[in-house]
Amino acid sequence: MPATPHAPYPPLGAHWDGLTVLARGANRLCAADPDDAGHCLKFELAAVERTRAGTRARLRRLLARHLPALGENATELRAWQRLHARIGERLDAWLAPCRGIVDTRWGPALRCALIRDADGRPARSLYAHLFEGSPHTPASLCTAVDAIERELLAHDVPLFDLNAGNFVVTGAGAEPRLVCVDAKSTLSGKEILPFSRWSRRLMHRKIRRRAERLRQRIRAALADAPPPH
Ligand SMILES: Nc1ncnc2c1ncn2[C@@H]1O[C@H](COP(=O)(O)OP(=O)(O)OP(=O)(O)O)[C@@H](O)[C@H]1O
Ligand SMILES: [Mg+2]
Repeated sequence: MPATPHAPYPPLGAHWDGLTVLARGANRLCAADPDDAGHCLKFELAAVERTRAGTRARLRRLLARHLPALGENATELRAWQRLHARIGERLDAWLAPCRGIVDTRWGPALRCALIRDADGRPARSLYAHLFEGSPHTPASLCTAVDAIERELLAHDVPLFDLNAGNFVVTGAGAEPRLVCVDAKSTLSGKEILPFSRWSRRLMHRKIRRRAERLRQRIRAALADAPPPH
């Protein structure tokens, strides 16, 4: 059994009433767009609704309260716009398109294309597949990671936060596909001196390392799981 992989989330407040919550990350809540079934809305959570974080993340959150441009939504939108300007429509195959920041009665939200699974339901995160059950084999999910790794290397995309919560799983049974739903890490890294952004060789090495780590996590999480039906 894997150790509890995530600290329990603090409860959500009543102010989210009327929204269909699809999932939540450490920093944001993802809800169905009530006006458009093809989109979702991402809201930055208030401090009390977020999971605990390290000093750097806490500092960034504090600054973002006063400077929205530093918030997760503005960062993700900028990251997507930059990649889209460079790579074009091809990007849509593996990174969920962002439309812009919109005002809603729940507050400002980042509007993104909602990725759906092969049955038309909102796609579940890879994290949910690993810890709540998956119809896919570990080998097929690892092959899907290979495909993402190839795209990142081919286009020199410094996407280093290859954690299972940042990908959703779509595609048919034997051939699942991963779509990234969070490209913030291409802009906001954890390194003090970002050598792996300055050197293409170091960037590629880091992408390979992170992709391998994700494949290991997939194998470890699904190793004890009953075989998919
Ligand atoms: N475009 C999308 N289509 C479908 N589901 C999505 C989409 N965007 C986000 N989600 C769901 O919301 C969850 C959280 O998304 P996201 O990674 O953007 O939040 P976050 O707070 O930035 O997470 P963290 O800070 O932990 O990386 C995802 O794991 C996924 O289940
Ligand atoms: Mg995320």
